[in-house]
Amino acid sequence: MTMAQWTHKHLLDLDDVSRDEIELIIETARSFKEVSSREVKKVPALRGKTVVLLFFEPSTRTRVSFELAAKRLSADTLSIAANVSSVTKGETVLDTALNIEAMNVDAMVVRHQASGVPQILAKGTKTVIINAGDGCRAHPTQALLDVFTMVDKIGPLDGKKVTIIGDILHSRVARSNIGALITMGAHVTVCGPGTLIPLGMEQYGVEVTTSIDRALDGADVVMALRMQKERQQELYLPSMTEYIKEFCITSERLKKAKPHALVMHPGPMNRGVEIAANVADGAQSVILEQVTNGIAVRMAVLYLLLSRKTE
Ligand code: CP
Repeated sequence: MTMAQWTHKHLLDLDDVSRDEIELIIETARSFKEVSSREVKKVPALRGKTVVLLFFEPSTRTRVSFELAAKRLSADTLSIAANVSSVTKGETVLDTALNIEAMNVDAMVVRHQASGVPQILAKGTKTVIINAGDGCRAHPTQALLDVFTMVDKIGPLDGKKVTIIGDILHSRVARSNIGALITMGAHVTVCGPGTLIPLGMEQYGVEVTTSIDRALDGADVVMALRMQKERQQELYLPSMTEYIKEFCITSERLKKAKPHALVMHPGPMNRGVEIAANVADGAQSVILEQVTNGIAVRMAVLYLLLSRKTE
C-alpha cells in the first residue's frame, strides 16, 4: 500500500482531508500508541520543537492529551489559559498569537468559543495552527480519534451504521465526525429533538430521524453527544426531563443496536441525561479507550504537521 503524503500546513477542520490522509493519520497513530505503554514514554521525533496550547474555553481531555502527545514526542510545551493571559486586558486573540509567534514557537493548538478563530490565526500568523475545537464548527482531532477507535475495534467503516444521538445543532464533534465518517464510507444516522438538528442535514449524505428506535436499529456504533447547556441560550427543549425520556441511551434502548455495538461519547458526559450511567460504564462502552487513543492520534497529528517538508 502506498502511503499518502501529509500536505496541509494546518489542521483547522477535516473538510479537505482525504480518506488516504485519514488512513495515514490512523497508521501513524497506531505506530505511536505503543509509546504510551513503555516505561519511558518518549520518542525524540519532535525534539527542539515548541508547541503552545492556547485554550480560551475549558477542556480536560483535549488539552491534557495534546500536552502529553507533544511531551511524548519530546517537544517543549507551554499551556496558556485565557483567564490568566492579557486577553483579559483587551488584547485581541490575533495579537496574542502574534506575540507568542514572536517567541519562535512551532505550533499553536487553539480552542475558542467562537467559530472561525483557528482560521483567523492561520491567516494572520505564520505558525502551524491546530484546531482543538472552535465554537459549534469543528473539532477535527476528536473526530480523528473517534474514527481511529472505531477502526481499531470493528475494522474498516465502509457500510457500517454509525448513529449520533443528541444535540447535533451545537456539536462541533458531530460536524467533524459526520465529515470524517462519510469520507471513510460509513452510513451515518443523526438523531435528536427536531429543534436540535440543523435544517438540511440530509444534503451531507446523512440519514436524519427524530426516532431513537429507528436510529439505534442495527447500529454498529452508537455515539451520544453531550447536552450543551452553555450553548443553549434559547429554548430548544420543553425540559431536560422530556429529553431524557425520549433520547437518553439506556440499556433497554441499546438492545436495538447490534449485539456488540460500540458505545461512544466524546466527553464530558452528563450521566443520566444523554447516556445512562450503566451504559457509559457497560461492556460495550469504549469511552475511556477514546481518551487513551486521543494521545496517539494527537501525536500523529503533531508529528505529521511539524515534520512536514516545506519548499
Ligand atoms: N471531548 C472534548 O473535547 O473534551 P474536553 O472539552 O474535555 O477537551
